[in-house]
Amino acid sequence: MIKKRLFFEPEIKKDGLAKIEEAYEKIIKEMKEGISGYYDLPVNQDSIVEEIYDFISKNHYLSNNLIKDLVVIGIGGSSLGTRAIDTLLKFSHNRNIVNIHFLENLDPLYLTNSIKKIDLSRAFIVVISKSGTTIETISITKYIFSLMQDPIKGLDLEHKIAVITDKDSPLDRLAVERGWKTFHIPKNVGGRFSVLCPVGLFPLAVLGYDVRELLEGAKIMRDEFLTQGTKLLMFKKAYYYYKNRKKKNINILFSYSSMFEAFNKWYIQLWGESLGKKRKDTERVGLTPIGLIGSIDQHSFLQLIVEGPKDKTVTFLKLKNFELPITVPHISLPYLETTDFVNGRRFQTIINTQCDATMESIMEADVPVDLIEINELNENSAGYLIYYFELLTSAVGTMLDIDTYNQPGVEKGKQKLKIKLSK
Ligand code: PA5
Repeated sequence: MIKKRLFFEPEIKKDGLAKIEEAYEKIIKEMKEGISGYYDLPVNQDSIVEEIYDFISKNHYLSNNLIKDLVVIGIGGSSLGTRAIDTLLKFSHNRNIVNIHFLENLDPLYLTNSIKKIDLSRAFIVVISKSGTTIETISITKYIFSLMQDPIKGLDLEHKIAVITDKDSPLDRLAVERGWKTFHIPKNVGGRFSVLCPVGLFPLAVLGYDVRELLEGAKIMRDEFLTQGTKLLMFKKAYYYYKNRKKKNINILFSYSSMFEAFNKWYIQLWGESLGKKRKDTERVGLTPIGLIGSIDQHSFLQLIVEGPKDKTVTFLKLKNFELPITVPHISLPYLETTDFVNGRRFQTIINTQCDATMESIMEADVPVDLIEINELNENSAGYLIYYFELLTSAVGTMLDIDTYNQPGVEKGKQKLKIKLSK
């Protein structure tokens, strides 16, 4: 179960209600017309899920536990979602013992040392790229091939590789020619919104997670949206972000568990790439996303929130049940008696009370706060959370009147790179 609370009351007048209504209608239109396909992923991936499990069960290496390392080659939306969900759930009972490696960056130090940890003779490679041409992904793929036994004929590779890309992309054509297993990304599903299609479903299924349950969690959020409509608290929050975009242009996600490290990164990409845009009226809009981990960042960033410029809103993510009963032992250390007030307390109680205490102190500093409280981490709650943040992004994007799903700002750099390296 996931509870959401808003600890501030956005002032919503008549025009505000109209804006919310309009945003809701736009989202319904985007959903119906397939402008973005992510909306329907929780309800249209059944046959893909079957295909994924069928492939896994028939693949000699995957079904007989002959794979030690799962190597995901992809960047941005092609890897962050899978990483987020695996980090959230990696200590759950469903996870099998395959090591996962995300090869994303061209940094040779990182690459060389990451590859050293992989047993390439017992690795399964998943190349993920919507465009099929991303320079990081393709360069790393070539490098990995060069280290494997038969890169040209792809003899042994044939059953140890899967490619996830758009139908007919250059990478798809290569995969089809070589006879590698391919899964397609729906054309209308953008990279950062793609974790609930094969981009995330395939690697997560290989890791042993119940991806049907992941989709079920997302469906619960989708149903909430369809039944509650503009009454969803999310719309109030989105409207506040829209209305105060100039004064409160920084959104902080303060997550109270280290399991949210990668989720925060996924959120930063989703929020940053989707909402940082030039509007038609040439206003440059954007709500800078920041991801913090509690309690660690209480010792670094909190001061800036409480006493720095009042340009921020904070969303707390709190995990109610860590399912681990460890406690601070009843040990009184000489000179450290003042810390004994936590003796006998569960670590879970302490971290969650830290979350409450930080929340209160931030509210007292007159900073808008909301809370998302998750009962426990599992596939269902992960799916719900993913869909919640995607929907929130769409709601803010429609209010800002921008194209939430493109990213023209990152193209220029890519073109310049090509010119520089083609010389
Ligand atoms: O969200 C996006 O569209 C981007 O972050 C892409 O996922 C990223 O640039 C990788 O692109 P591709 O999947 O085409 O390799």
